Amino acid sequence: MSQPLVIALAKGRILEDILPLLKKVNLIPEDDLLKTRKLMIKSTDGRVNFLLIRNSDVCTYVERGAADMGIVGRDLLLEFRPRVFEQLDLKIGKCRLCTAYPKGKSINKQQGAHIRVATKYDYLAQQYYRRHGMQAEIIHLYGSMELAPLIGMADYILDVVSTGATLKANELVEEDSLFNISSRLIINPASFALRRKEIQPLVEFFREAVGEA
Ligand code: PRP
Repeated sequence: MSQPLVIALAKGRILEDILPLLKKVNLIPEDDLLKTRKLMIKSTDGRVNFLLIRNSDVCTYVERGAADMGIVGRDLLLEFRPRVFEQLDLKIGKCRLCTAYPKGKSINKQQGAHIRVATKYDYLAQQYYRRHGMQAEIIHLYGSMELAPLIGMADYILDVVSTGATLKANELVEEDSLFNISSRLIINPASFALRRKEIQPLVEFFREAVGEA
């Protein structure tokens, strides 16, 4: 039997949506991915090794060929622009990338205005505010962006919004919606060339599972 295919998955909330998809394509992890502390888990049929890593690291593993495939949010593909094949919209993890500001503190978006933006999407934020002719000072944070305007460290945030509950709870107002986001199946180009016979049928199973076949 050939080496197992390696699939990089993000730990956290999105796993709850990924697990039913894996079941549909008949890839059953040996351990409960939501509970295990292991970071590499085999599938019961030995065809696949799953890597459980941080969301923002999935692109790196797949781009470098440490993983043959991965499941990652479109937000990270737009931000990091990795050299991978974006193969399929899995229609899970749906949210949108938005700007937001504290209630009652909207900034007049005039040319040349200087604003402080808290985000983990430095590249996308720079592009967005440049397009609006504004000078953005990017304050890079790794999470809980919504806190930054609340305590006066930033004027705006640029972050993903799903239900809007976090914005509401922290008295932020959604301003502009930049992109619709969902999780994508990505593939390392060399793996795709070398192991196409194994990868292509799996992609088709995923396609069927998300109702695209
Ligand atoms: C994400 C995002 C928002 C929140 C939005 O954070 O950064 O904070 O979810 O979801 P909502 O609109 O449904 O409230 P996540 O919980 O993934 O953690 P993070 O702060 O570490 O990114």
